Amino acid sequence: MRWRARARRRPDRVTAMKGRTPVVTGAVSIRPLAAADAVAYKALRDEALRTAPDAFTSDYESSVGRDASEYVARFGALESGQFFLGAFDATGQLIGCLGCEREQRTKQRHCAVVVGMMVAPRAQRQGIGQQLIADCVEAARRVPGLTQLVLTVTASNTHVVQLYERAGFRAWGLLPNAIVVDGVGFDKLHMVRVLHH
Ligand SMILES: CC(C)(COP(=O)(O)OP(=O)(O)OC[C@H]1O[C@@H](n2cnc3c(N)ncnc32)[C@H](O)[C@@H]1OP(=O)(O)O)[C@@H](O)C(=O)NCCC(=O)NCCS
Repeated sequence: MRWRARARRRPDRVTAMKGRTPVVTGAVSIRPLAAADAVAYKALRDEALRTAPDAFTSDYESSVGRDASEYVARFGALESGQFFLGAFDATGQLIGCLGCEREQRTKQRHCAVVVGMMVAPRAQRQGIGQQLIADCVEAARRVPGLTQLVLTVTASNTHVVQLYERAGFRAWGLLPNAIVVDGVGFDKLHMVRVLHH
């Protein structure tokens, strides 16, 4: 199933943007990624891993050499609970994404893990991340038997934590020193979002 959603535009922010230059103009559409999007997805992902290394558990050096086709298995149908959503600008360029990976074991199939939230630097602070997580929650709510979403976020990235809290996630634990980047340890906050069907 393919669907489109228009990212919540905030015209006041697009024109004023607190002094920042608006770089994404026109409608933003959000839809599930498909095999044909793999190359664009890899480019967006590699750039995010390179520019925000403390935000992700994967690292740029191990990822940049991977073939784009390796990611296609992530792009399932919405109803499977195994999908990636992509945000596209008016020219059709991929500018953001977010994944949902349903647990496969019987006792965990009611859970899915939200992964790989990223928005291209030029498109940030325009509401796209917030719309991606809102659409993910909405899609997950429609998956039969899926009752909760979980994720981890680097605790010091408080703006990202707040973004998830706004989408209904709540923190339930903290893993100290969960990832080490260039010798520096970062704690990961564990969050859960109960889905009401
Ligand atoms: C996190 C990320 C996906 C957010 O995407 P985005 O499209 O910029 O987010 P939004 O525009 O929807 O922001 C929603 C709110 O989050 C907060 N926020 C987002 N980015 C922020 C920033 N750099 N500084 C402060 N607050 C920020 C703000 O409260 C914002 O609302 P506001 O603009 O009305 O103040 C993006 O910053 C990104 O790709 N970061 C690098 C990778 C990353 O950290 N991924 C998360 C992994 S868990």
